[in-house]
Amino acid sequence: MKVVHTLAALNESLASPHRRVLVPTMGNLHEGHLRLIDTARKHGEQVIASIFVNRLQFAPHEDFDRYPRTLERDCEMLAARGCDLVFAPDEQALYPQPQTYKVMPDPALADILEGHFRPGFFMGVCTVVMKLLSCVRPDVAVFGQKDYQQWRIVERMVHQFALPTQIVGEPTCRASDGLALSSRNGYLNEHERAQAVQLSTQLRQIAQAVQAGVTDLAMLEEQAHRTLSQGGWQVDYITVRRRLDLLPPAQGETIVGRCVALAAARLGQTRLIDNLEV
Ligand code: PAJ
Repeated sequence: MKVVHTLAALNESLASPHRRVLVPTMGNLHEGHLRLIDTARKHGEQVIASIFVNRLQFAPHEDFDRYPRTLERDCEMLAARGCDLVFAPDEQALYPQPQTYKVMPDPALADILEGHFRPGFFMGVCTVVMKLLSCVRPDVAVFGQKDYQQWRIVERMVHQFALPTQIVGEPTCRASDGLALSSRNGYLNEHERAQAVQLSTQLRQIAQAVQAGVTDLAMLEEQAHRTLSQGGWQVDYITVRRRLDLLPPAQGETIVGRCVALAAARLGQTRLIDNLEV
């Protein structure tokens, strides 16, 4: 496995005419990321992982400075999983001048849910993903459904700009108790880690109730919100939305098989997100 840090070295390492598959990451890899590598392998001959902590998608008060940077360990994990190439630029390599041209995603999709609580977040994500796609020019790029809204926004961006890359969504990888794996789980102390499972539990309860025929979503959402708050969480949202446009389903609209329950909440200083298709 080769590791490159500059655009010039990346260009020299891109294999053509092989099908290239990109897995964009911010590093501090876990099994969830590695599943994306496994899926990437099924879609092409050259699997490329990018590792870049993208300043543009962090608000000033967020964890850009303390985001764990573990390049050496990440590369060992990627090599063991059969990744072919790692693109790990520093800021100077990816943003040699301040990135003043940005990609503005559709506000209807990007200003709600995560975008409401993290203004500008998806503009930062789209700008770096667009740049990575234009540097690597992959046939396929793999994204995790763990970040459901991000996956949908990237899909729509690629479609609207007619980019020649297919976006593949990989199901969420979970710990044995149900907690979605995330680099930010490392911020949780022992007590918080034990409580963290409640987020996926509440999503599962909503999914089960909907599948059992409950149609009063507001009631289900309120109940889940209350249970989490009583358990010490600060809830940003827990809500059932349509899978494609993430809008609330209309009265009487089919929910089962078409919707997804999404949540974001903080335990202490750590903000976690999760979702479950219903
Ligand atoms: P990061 O949080 O490192 O995640 C990289 C990719 O791994 C994303 O597509 C994410 O959805 C996926 N992922 C994370 N945890 C997962 C899990 N438990 N199961 C399945 N997939 C999981 O998302 C980002 O980085 C950045 O926003 C990025 C797209 C790289 C742009 O900077």
